[in-house]
Amino acid sequence: MSLTEAELERQRRSNVNALRYSEAFENHRRHLTEVVAPGPRSESAATGSLCVLGAGNACDLDLERLSWSHGAIHLVDIDREALERAYSRQSPRVRSQLVLHAPVDLSGVLGRLARWRSLQVSAEELLHTPELASASLASKIGTRFDVVLSACLLSQMHLSVRQALGEGHPLFEAVAYTLTLVHLRTLSRLAHPGGRVVLATDVATEAMAPLRALPAGTDLGLLLDQLIDDGHVFGVVNPRALEQIAADDPHLARELASPRIRDTWLWHNGPERIFLVCALELERTAAS
Ligand SMILES: C[S@@+](CC[C@H](N)C(=O)[O-])C[C@H]1O[C@@H](n2cnc3c(N)ncnc32)[C@H](O)[C@@H]1O
Repeated sequence: MSLTEAELERQRRSNVNALRYSEAFENHRRHLTEVVAPGPRSESAATGSLCVLGAGNACDLDLERLSWSHGAIHLVDIDREALERAYSRQSPRVRSQLVLHAPVDLSGVLGRLARWRSLQVSAEELLHTPELASASLASKIGTRFDVVLSACLLSQMHLSVRQALGEGHPLFEAVAYTLTLVHLRTLSRLAHPGGRVVLATDVATEAMAPLRALPAGTDLGLLLDQLIDDGHVFGVVNPRALEQIAADDPHLARELASPRIRDTWLWHNGPERIFLVCALELERTAAS
């Protein structure tokens, strides 16, 4: 079985398992929908367009609500069955606005990891991967959007790199950096000039902070700041590190501006697991 097939199988199993916890997603769904939705529901024509990367079962989004503001909603994932489940749950009106793209490997690197693991890679190949892979993904999806959402996908893709290479691999850091650049450039390419990129990611677990025991009314934004200062977040999705990567990369520095944390919330992913999640919002500025 190739690494891509193995990863697809892992994601399939994980998406099927997640179904039984979808009720517990309520708080996560409300916050994620809110950061994407432009404002209160209106009866005027839905003119916006939305692309959701890592949409999976779409249990984390209120597609009915989003369909009032976004006339076209594209769902992208490696797992076609999960997208089909999401599609079949919707009303005929919402379905008519959905476009499914699957299977799409949004990391752009799964097909290369086996070769890279055995060090069959040049510095040049790694250097060019963000540009080539993001261009190829954008052309596969084929259009640009007013809002592009990465729905807790980046941590999952980093997990697959960690599983394939192991943290001790000499290329681990370089490949992790490459993957983040592929993703940020893909998000940027998919957004219309003047559009919005929202990168939502799980940043910490209970092992990093007492998320289940937080007093009511805890300011989760302040908690996130504190956890970042203390180094108690997943390094590969640390929002400050992502902002820095976007600022250092010449393409992204031209195209994306005004990064800010739009919201921070708790995601009860079943009875056992709870994550701190944040949504980093960036504006697509350049006309290119
Ligand atoms: C944490 S889940 C997001 C939850 C999902 N929005 C839902 O409600 O079911 C991450 C999603 O990313 C997808 N994914 C993981 N790795 C991927 C990859 N390399 N390319 C595309 N999608 C991927 C998984 O299939 C899964 O649907």
